[in-house]
Amino acid sequence: MSIKDIFETMDYGPAPEAAGDALAWIVDQGSRFGAFINGEFTTPGDTFETINPATGEVLAQVTQASPADVDAAVAAARKAQDGWERLGGKGRARHLYALARLVQKHARLFAVLESLDSGKPIREARDIDVPLVARHFYYHAGMAQLMEAELPGRAAMGVCGQVVPWNFPLLMLAWKIAPALAMGNTVVLKPAEWTSLTALLFADICRQAGLPKGVVNIVTGDGVVGAALVAHDGVDKVAFTGSTEVGRKIREATAGQGKGLTLELGGKSPFVVFEDADLDSAVEGLVDAIWFNGGQVCCAGSRLLVQEGVAERFHEKLKLRMQSLRVGNPLDKCIDVGAIVHPEQLARIKGLVAGSGGVVTQGTAPEGCYYPPTLIEGLEPADPLMQEEIFGPVLVSTTFRTPSEAVALANNTRYGLAASVWSENVNVALDVAPKLVAGVVWVNGTNMFDAAAGFGGVRESGFGREGGWEGLQAYTKPAAKRKALKVAAPVVGEPELPEGLDRTAKLYIGGKQARPDGGYVRHVFGKGGKALGQVGIANRKDLRNAVEAARGAAGWSGATAHNRAQVLYYIAENLEARAEEFAARIDAVTGKGGKAEVEAAVSRLFSYGAWADKFGGDLRQVPMRGMALAVREPVGVVGAFCPDEAPLLGLISVLAPAIAMGNRVVLVAGEAGPLTATDFYQVLDTSDVPGGVVNILTGSHAELAPTMAQHFDIDAVWSFSASDISAVIERESAASLKRTWVNNGLVTDWDTAEGRAFLEQATEVKTVWVPYGA
Ligand code: NAI
Repeated sequence: MSIKDIFETMDYGPAPEAAGDALAWIVDQGSRFGAFINGEFTTPGDTFETINPATGEVLAQVTQASPADVDAAVAAARKAQDGWERLGGKGRARHLYALARLVQKHARLFAVLESLDSGKPIREARDIDVPLVARHFYYHAGMAQLMEAELPGRAAMGVCGQVVPWNFPLLMLAWKIAPALAMGNTVVLKPAEWTSLTALLFADICRQAGLPKGVVNIVTGDGVVGAALVAHDGVDKVAFTGSTEVGRKIREATAGQGKGLTLELGGKSPFVVFEDADLDSAVEGLVDAIWFNGGQVCCAGSRLLVQEGVAERFHEKLKLRMQSLRVGNPLDKCIDVGAIVHPEQLARIKGLVAGSGGVVTQGTAPEGCYYPPTLIEGLEPADPLMQEEIFGPVLVSTTFRTPSEAVALANNTRYGLAASVWSENVNVALDVAPKLVAGVVWVNGTNMFDAAAGFGGVRESGFGREGGWEGLQAYTKPAAKRKALKVAAPVVGEPELPEGLDRTAKLYIGGKQARPDGGYVRHVFGKGGKALGQVGIANRKDLRNAVEAARGAAGWSGATAHNRAQVLYYIAENLEARAEEFAARIDAVTGKGGKAEVEAAVSRLFSYGAWADKFGGDLRQVPMRGMALAVREPVGVVGAFCPDEAPLLGLISVLAPAIAMGNRVVLVAGEAGPLTATDFYQVLDTSDVPGGVVNILTGSHAELAPTMAQHFDIDAVWSFSASDISAVIERESAASLKRTWVNNGLVTDWDTAEGRAFLEQATEVKTVWVPYGA
């Protein structure tokens, strides 16, 4: 193109980035890669091709790791773990700094290789992915440095099995490896089969950085390798980013193995434009929301909701902007949208759009593995394209009238990863942001990420956070060793009630005593087999009723923390007033310590009353003019199986943190001493606890566990049961992907079981990004 032509067309000339160094690196490695195990690349085994999707050229051959490779990698990680942890936080910090520095030093090589292997525009790999990778290692070097001082009593989980997808191959690797290493874990990571090269370059960098052998291991291959890794019994913690479908499989495969698990899954994130938004900024925001990385982003703003008054104007501006988006050679620095990662993914996108009944508007794209920017209007909210993740540059749009309608439409999805709100009115934006069911909300912005700000979802977008303090939870555990819990013995005794004692305690649902649906009761025996009374046996229907009551008490989550504290103090006072009665009841069940247990329970209620208004979240230091708020929100409805060991203190230890943080609870009383729980109804009744906030059932833990775990209106299940129900809870929660917190048959020390660990389980961190500028 001549200069005269350029002046005439005002078109961009090509500005290709040179690929020579990246291609030379591949050739230097022999163009065939083995796995990286114990600090060495293995001899390549069975291999498959990794291609450049923009050209179809084969870049290299990558090994399909064998089961023996996975075993060897896990063994190497295990062997290295103790020494790595003993290096101490400050020692590990030096290594993480070294990795950060080397990532920066080789930034161009990483960016070009990433662009070649994934098809993402070099501009994005260079300016977004790689800088964020370096930032993640620096930030977590800092976390390692501070670990002993700031996370006392926490230890590494052990060996982490980590599986990442193809949309941000190197960035997702950093999100997984940096926090794991910082906290003293070692890792085996499996990159996605379409995009393994930057992980292998990273392995090379680990060698250069002098990282101890076995601390980082990379096994390449497809989902079969991933499945073998996550289920491996030498792995203590699994972290996965990818599709909801595979996340569900991993939840099932790891159920009952006692592993830590975090899942960062799909999304269908709403992009909400109010009529008082800066419309031009919002259009540019959409470019970043849905055309960044060709829409192959789990938190892509893929559902546009525009207020009716500006909908026409906004769509006009949007369509105009779509025409000017340049789709093409990812290595060209002037390109906005690169190639789709793989022909298979392209076919998936084409198939989904072809079946659409809406009005389709498209920009342009060259021949090959490219897809044009696409807008689809006129779909019903229930249309599959409004609900399913397309994972391509395809935006669906609809309109709304009022803020409450916007919130209802935005939340009309099974996902809950991210959301974007556009309004120049601070009242509207900050009123709507907390109402959106999502782990991340961007106000007047989109797709902002930083190591200091947690990222992750709710609902079927998974659980757990990456980044920030909350991201470290997944990579640490209490340092103290826990003993195995005795499996609950069947409750036996002489089924003769003493003369004059006719107590059949009912269930407590919606603030009222309710007869069990099945009409069945059982005897409760004390120490020595003496009959103490009878309790109802709750069935699935009772559980469902309790959940409905809890759902109905949503007002509790909106009550002020001060009010919730007042109620907790009131419960404490009323329990104290009946201390003798409760102590006698506990003595009868456990044979000892009733008085001390009641005192501890009262004190615990006061503690959580104190916590209620002191665990709200904080402000994160992200590199932006504005604020990133880490807000602690209630999880919602928490179902919990209470322990046998401490009939009252156990119940209070579970109930108090949950309701202090604004949750509603469905508790199943410990099986050995349920009468303490049923006596407690009267304390609740006299303490201004709104009906439905606390629901208490008595019955068989084993029978109720599957229903609790499967129920779609329960947001989290906790179990401290002495029955062996941890595995069933984890497995049965896979459909709804709710959070679970189970004891895996280990003893909890109820004398000390108080504080942050419970509060963290009782809350979800929502990161709200609020950039500003006058
Ligand atoms: P995927 O979820 O199948 O793959 C992600 C990673 O999991 C890859 O490394 C894969 O090898 C591995 N994997 C597959 N099956 C596994 C198993 N049973 N156990 C352990 N690991 C396993 O995603 P895929 O097939 O590449 O893409 C399919 C759809 O998933 C996309 O169209 C998109 O909608 C969604 N997706 C969502 C992502 C997100 O970040 N939320 C990322 C990638 C895909």
